[in-house]
Amino acid sequence: MESEKSRPTSSERARLDLLTKTPYIQVLTYPRMSLKEAKVRIRQLRTLGVDELVFEGPARVGRLGILGLGTVGVVVKAKSGDGLYALKVRRTDANRPNMDAEVELSSTANRLGVGPRVLAHTRDMVLMELLDPQELSEWLRGVKGEGRRAAVRELIHSLLNQCRTLDIMGIDHGELSNLRKHAVVSGGKPWIIDFESASRGRRPRNVTSAAQYLFVGGAVSPALRRALGVRDTEKLKALLAEYKKELSDYAYSKILESLKLSNS
Ligand SMILES: Nc1ncnc2c1ncn2[C@@H]1O[C@H](COP(=O)(O)OP(=O)(O)O)[C@@H](O)[C@H]1O
Ligand SMILES: [Mg+2]
Repeated sequence: MESEKSRPTSSERARLDLLTKTPYIQVLTYPRMSLKEAKVRIRQLRTLGVDELVFEGPARVGRLGILGLGTVGVVVKAKSGDGLYALKVRRTDANRPNMDAEVELSSTANRLGVGPRVLAHTRDMVLMELLDPQELSEWLRGVKGEGRRAAVRELIHSLLNQCRTLDIMGIDHGELSNLRKHAVVSGGKPWIIDFESASRGRRPRNVTSAAQYLFVGGAVSPALRRALGVRDTEKLKALLAEYKKELSDYAYSKILESLKLSNS
């Protein structure tokens, strides 16, 4: 079955007892349909207090709208009581037997105010705070006018501070070197998502990877440099190398200074 990014599909809802049927089972046990596995997962949805899956979002599995498709999970909107949440469902072909490590690292990040809040989880599913994610490049195109520089400054400063917090805690996100998919904007704020590749076993390089992407090598970097009036990338690169060695507050403050973020 193909999944593709496309225009938003119309909304469709399914209560739990419908999820063993096509096409819903194709999402619940993506990409290899399994009735046995679907039944196990419906029990997990009951445990999580999910009443319905709501198929709408910017990506698709077949005709059904979903929030996103990654290498580990299918993310779909879920209703529980009066609330709407994002539910990450482990792919049946994922390279891990459960969501435990991701839940543990996401929850630690949450305690530091980073990442969408994880509310509950089971072996194969994580129920979390629902975002309305926009890619950074798209957000950047939308901020115009007089307040542009201040808005970009505030957002990038907040994003780098989140990276710094993770560095201090010794958690390396692991996928910020291409942060297009994993640093998004929702509700006017930056969010670091998806801790599936995160680890405490590596030297953290969240700040260096993110800053490198944002200002040196990423698709958004020319626009960001222009927005913040950053000219000297050689100096920035030297400061990033210094920070990489030291991981100190001082080295971090020098980076902020060179990006003209010190007092935003
Ligand atoms: N909390 C959320 N709210 C809304 N959309 C989300 C949320 N979490 C993830 N997504 C969407 O789902 C996609 C895949 O999620 P991700 O956690 O990156 O999965 P994987 O670990 O399989 O890569 C993301 O790129 C994003 O577009
Ligand atoms: Mg991902």
